[in-house]
Amino acid sequence: MICAGAAAAPALWRLCTGARWPLSAYAKKISIRFCSSRMTLDNINRAAVDRIIRVDHAGEYGADRILAGQMAVLGRTSVGPVIQKMWDQEKAHLKKFSELMVAFRVRPTALMPLWNVMGFALGAGTALLGKEGAMACTVAVEETIAHHYNNQIRMLMEEDPEKYEELLQLIKTIRDEELEHHDTGLYHDAELAPAYTVLKNVIQAGCRAAIYLSERL
Ligand SMILES: [Fe+2]
Ligand SMILES: [Fe+2]
Repeated sequence: MICAGAAAAPALWRLCTGARWPLSAYAKKISIRFCSSRMTLDNINRAAVDRIIRVDHAGEYGADRILAGQMAVLGRTSVGPVIQKMWDQEKAHLKKFSELMVAFRVRPTALMPLWNVMGFALGAGTALLGKEGAMACTVAVEETIAHHYNNQIRMLMEEDPEKYEELLQLIKTIRDEELEHHDTGLYHDAELAPAYTVLKNVIQAGCRAAIYLSERL
């Protein structure tokens, strides 16, 4: 979803993007060291950065589990290498956010055990519908996650693009790879999955609920 003039109109931007927290609402400011460059970020919005790292770590963990489930069912079929490649990228995404959790001393969501089970079940369950089902799951998840990352990018851009440059670059890079996964799913016949539209809508509702909960718990 594109909102022209978002940076100049925070209220409209939040309305458009569905963002629930203006970053300025969080007054607690600290200095912290960014893990990759070792640069020090002064006066970062600690609560907002905590929330971003926690929910993104949870999302990448969920993606890792989904692809583990898909590989368990379809790993030895013709789409096995396609799924394996996406899985490898999800593992790299998870590693990045795991490193940030350590660097920023952010705790993981309390729902990790749930995302472990549900992610694997979603991946394996859709894969049992055939490769089209697995790809439909990928399309649904990636579309939602790319939208979620775009919301975070807009939020950080509004807060301070220079201060959050490194985090912004990481999220943009990962967002672009999620969009590649989305396109891969479409290329491999996601839309031919049984009850594609219903399946996609149900999975996306689940993803939005998972994001909502992981930001809070
Ligand atoms: Fe990812
Ligand atoms: Fe992905």
